Amino acid sequence: MSARLPHVGQLAISHILNMRDTMRPLIAGNWKMNGLGDSLHEIERLVAELLEQPAAADILICPPFTLIDRAEALVRGSAIQIGGQDCHVDASGAHTGDISAAMLADSGAKAVIVGHSERRANHGETSARVAGKAKAAHVSGLMPIICIGETEAERNAGHVLEIVLSQLRDSIALVPAPNYVIAYEPVWAIGTGKTPTLQDIADIHSAIRGALIDHEAEPGKQVRILYGGSVKPDNAAAILCLPHVNGALVGGASLKATDFMKIIRAA
Ligand code: PGA
Repeated sequence: MSARLPHVGQLAISHILNMRDTMRPLIAGNWKMNGLGDSLHEIERLVAELLEQPAAADILICPPFTLIDRAEALVRGSAIQIGGQDCHVDASGAHTGDISAAMLADSGAKAVIVGHSERRANHGETSARVAGKAKAAHVSGLMPIICIGETEAERNAGHVLEIVLSQLRDSIALVPAPNYVIAYEPVWAIGTGKTPTLQDIADIHSAIRGALIDHEAEPGKQVRILYGGSVKPDNAAAILCLPHVNGALVGGASLKATDFMKIIRAA
C-alpha cells in the first residue's frame, strides 16, 4: 500500500513539522451489538484497576444503548466515560427504533460514535447524514467521534487519501473544531486482524491533520485523531506512538477488560 499512497502535501507538512503531539490520548471501546447485563463486570474490573493505577489516557466505552445508564452508574467518579454508538439527526420525533443524541446525554453518555463504516454500509449513511448526526451530538453536549475510512476496493484502486479526505470534509462540515474526534478506520482492517503498515497509518493521520488545519487552523490542531481497525494488545503500543495518532477506537479487544486494559496501558 505504501507505494500507492501519496505522501502528505507540502502545505500540510509545514504545519505538521512545527507541532508536537501533546494531546492526552483517548482510548475508546466500541462494543457494537455485544453485551448483556453480565458484561458490566468487565467495566467493574476496569474501574477497580484504574483506581489502583490511573491511566495516562482518557477512556471511553460505548456499549449498546441498553447498557448505557447501568454502565454510567458504574463508572461515575472514575476515569471512564460512557458513550453511544450512533444517534439520529433529530432530537425527537416519529423515528421508530432510533435514539437521539439528547436521549444519550440524558442516559449519562458523554460522547457518541457517528458514521462508523458498519452504519455507512448497513444503513446507507452518507457523509452528509453523518455531519447531521455529529451536529445533533454537539448540540446535545456530546463529543461526536466521526469515523472515516476506505474500503478494500478503494484501497486497491489507489484512492485512499481521496476517499478519506472527502469523507472527512463532508462529515465535519457542521461542527466547529475542536468539538469532535476523528477515527480513521480502514474498513478492511475492522475485525479482520489486518492493519495498514505503521508508515501508512502515519501518512494518513498526517494527511488528516493537514486537512483539519487547512479547514480551521488553530482548532484543527486540537482535534484528536484515533486509529481504529484490529487494534490489539500486541500492536497498540507501536500504533499509539505514531505522530498524529491521538488514541484508538477498539472493537473486539474492548470486550474483555484484560485486553482493553493492556491497550490503555500502551497509551
Ligand atoms: P475492531 O473494530 O477493533 O474489532 O477491528 C474496530 C471498530 O470497528 O471500531
